[in-house]
Amino acid sequence: MRWLIPLVYVGILCIAFVFVSTSLINLVSEYLFSQKIREEQRQTVDYAAEAVAAAEALNADSLYEVALRLAGQGGGRVMILSNNGVVLADSSSLYNGRRLAVREVAETLVTGESSYGFYDLSDASRSQRYRNLLGVYTAPIRSGGTMAGILLYTSDAAEVNENLSQMRQRIVLWIGLVIIAVGLLSIFVSRIFTKPIQELSDGIARMTNGDLHTQVRVKSATEFGQLADAFNSMSQRLEALDQTRNQFVSNASHELKTPLSAIKIMVETLQMQDPPDPAIEKEFLSDINSEIDRLNAIVGDLLTLVHFDSGKVDLKLEKIRLDQLIVETARRLKPLADARHITLTTNILDGIDLTADSSKLQQVFYNLIDNAIKYTPEGGSVTVDLERVGHNAIAHITDTGIGIPKAAQVHIFDRFYRVDKARARATGGTGLGLSIVRDIVRLHGGSVSVTSEEDKGSTFTVDLPIVSIVV
Ligand SMILES: Nc1ncnc2c1ncn2[C@@H]1O[C@H](COP(=O)(O)OP(=O)(O)O)[C@@H](O)[C@H]1O
Ligand SMILES: [Mg+2]
Repeated sequence: MRWLIPLVYVGILCIAFVFVSTSLINLVSEYLFSQKIREEQRQTVDYAAEAVAAAEALNADSLYEVALRLAGQGGGRVMILSNNGVVLADSSSLYNGRRLAVREVAETLVTGESSYGFYDLSDASRSQRYRNLLGVYTAPIRSGGTMAGILLYTSDAAEVNENLSQMRQRIVLWIGLVIIAVGLLSIFVSRIFTKPIQELSDGIARMTNGDLHTQVRVKSATEFGQLADAFNSMSQRLEALDQTRNQFVSNASHELKTPLSAIKIMVETLQMQDPPDPAIEKEFLSDINSEIDRLNAIVGDLLTLVHFDSGKVDLKLEKIRLDQLIVETARRLKPLADARHITLTTNILDGIDLTADSSKLQQVFYNLIDNAIKYTPEGGSVTVDLERVGHNAIAHITDTGIGIPKAAQVHIFDRFYRVDKARARATGGTGLGLSIVRDIVRLHGGSVSVTSEEDKGSTFTVDLPIVSIVV
């Protein structure tokens, strides 16, 4: 199928070339003939001028001599006729004394002008390839004001025919070469175009069959190359997305399994108790209760994230006072800070009006302040400040806590990522808090970042645009 298109092109080209070459040959042969006619006409007139003296003298010998000489010059046959059409001298000595009943002679006799005509000498029975034409030219031999005679010159067209047949062969050869070259070129060009398309469609087919890892190799500076690059980065992204999703499912299952196993062990232990010890029963039930709380928290966070992922989040936008929201959130966490002997202060530099989803922004600051308290040893401090910079509300949540290692800083917003898994479990974290924070902030058109130094503390910065919000 791919070869069909170039073949059609070559076919069309062949037909076009045949037309062009036929008319070219016709044109050239017409030109060559007209050249020859003009040339020989002129020659005949010249010859007539040269034969004047002999014709005036009417000397048979000198007439023959002139005819012979002129025939030798022109390569044809020369006859000198009297002014009534009788052959006085014939370079071939055949028609001497005969009256020539030739149209051209009659015409010159009547008009006194030169004339020419052609006679087809082809042998029809031998089916000659080219017509063998005999050209007959006549010119008056003028002596003073009168016509002393007629000069007749004949030549065959063999030479022209020979030239034409050579030219025809050459044209056919060239056309053949051109057709082959064009054919090869069009196959080559079509390969340049069809190969990358084939590569791409193969790649798409592989991807459709589930091979997200697939890459196409198109080395081309054209749009095909760009298309292939776009395809490759799309497939890389899809693959990464697929991996993230698998990772997420596996992490989620793992996170859910841990409390479930703990609950199962405790329930089994309780079942095996004989006789039941009310003190242990009480302790285990309380542990089971907190494991269930943990499960609840994880499932709640997971639902929130899945909801964000589905892209169907409706932000309940309303006019809020960001400064008040932050102060209120900090107040809710104050007991937690107090319990850990951590001083929690808010430092509001600007009152800021914002159009935002109040409960979601509360979640953001709750998670960040909660983390700051959780990851700060007793006796430390947590400060939340808020200021307006240009069209942005900038909030810093700064703690004097354990800090985050450099290598971990890029990952802490990833789902389920926790720097120290054992300790995080003890603090009750799910590892989903910061990714929820990032999702919410992004939904509000803002960004969140961290700077941190181990054993010194961390600062989380939330940057929210005040004017526009992106839902
Ligand atoms: N203020 C902080 N100081 C030190 N480490 C932090 C702080 N906030 C977050 N982290 C680290 O980032 C991880 C991810 O945070 P988060 O997503 O809120 O999960 P978690 O449920 O563990 O709190 C935490 O486990 C912790 O290791
Ligand atoms: Mg957290």
